Amino acid sequence: MRTVTKATELHALVAEFQRGGRRIGLVPTMGNLHAGHYSLIDIARSRADIVVASVFVNPTQFGPNEDFARYPRTPEADAAGLSASGCDVLFLPAVEDMYPYGAERTVRVSVPELPDLLEGAIRPGHFDGVATVVAKLFNLVQPQLAVFGQKDYQQLLVIRRMARDLRLPIDIVGAPIVREANGLAMSSRNQYLDAGQRERASSIHATLQSMREQVLHSAEPLPAIEARARANLEQSGLVPDYAVLRRADDLGEPAAGQRDGLVGLIAARSGSTRLIDNLLIGP
Ligand code: PAJ
Repeated sequence: MRTVTKATELHALVAEFQRGGRRIGLVPTMGNLHAGHYSLIDIARSRADIVVASVFVNPTQFGPNEDFARYPRTPEADAAGLSASGCDVLFLPAVEDMYPYGAERTVRVSVPELPDLLEGAIRPGHFDGVATVVAKLFNLVQPQLAVFGQKDYQQLLVIRRMARDLRLPIDIVGAPIVREANGLAMSSRNQYLDAGQRERASSIHATLQSMREQVLHSAEPLPAIEARARANLEQSGLVPDYAVLRRADDLGEPAAGQRDGLVGLIAARSGSTRLIDNLLIGP
C-alpha cells in the first residue's frame, strides 16, 4: 500500500492509473477505523481495480460545540488495517492540502432541503461540510465509484444528490450496516460506552426492528409507532433525539397509509454519547 499525503503526489498517481485504464474506487473516512469501515474497502475491492481510502478529520463538518479536536486520531493503526484489508493507496492529507484558503474561507458545496431535516436540523452546517470535503476528494481522486455506509443514511442521500446534480460521473455505492453481535451499529463512538451502556444501546436496533414489524404487520398509524419507539428507547435509559419513519428516497413525511418505501431512523443519547442507526422497510 502507498501512503500519500500531498494532493500533487496523489494527482500524479491517479493520472498514472487512469492512463492504464484502471477503475478507481474511493472510500472516504475520518479514520479510527473499525470493521464497518473495512467492509467498505471489501466492497470497493470487489468493484474496482484500485482502492483508494482517505483518512481526514474534516474540520468543516464539525459544529462549534462538537468534538473536532477530541476526535480520535489513530493513523498508524488505520494504515496497518487498511494495508491488511487490501487497500492500494491511503490518502492522508493535512488540512492545508484540502483547504488551501483555510477551512473558514473555503468554497462550499451546499445541497438544498435534505440538510434541513433530522441530523441536519440538530447539526447546522454539518452536511455542507460533508458535501464540500467529499466534492474535493472526488476531484482529487477522480474515482469511477465511491462507497459510503448506509449507517449514515442521510449523508448517503446528500452525497447521491450532490453527485447527480453536479453531474459527477461517479457511481455512489451504499454499503450495508455492520453491527456488533448485540445489534448495535459499529461506530467510533461506541468506545465511549461502558459495558452496561453498550448492552442498553442494543435497544436502538431492536426498536428499529419492532418499528418495521409494526409497519408491515399492523394497522397502527405511523405516528403511534413512532411514539412507542421513543418510549421504548427511554425505557432502556436512552434519550431519543428522534425516532421516526420517513420516505426512504428523500426523508420526507410519508403519505397517510404509506407502508413501504420507508426508512426508520433513530438518534439517541446514552450519557454524553450520541448514537444513530436506521433500517429500511419494504422495497
Ligand atoms: P466516518 O464516520 O469515518 O465514516 C466513513 C464511512 O464509513 C461512512 O461512509 C460511514 O457511513 C461508514 N460507516 C461507519 N460505520 C459503519 C458501519 N457500522 N457499517 C457500515 N458503514 C459504516 O462519514 C464520515 O466518516 C465522513 O462524514 C466522511 C464521509 C468521510 C466525510 O468527511
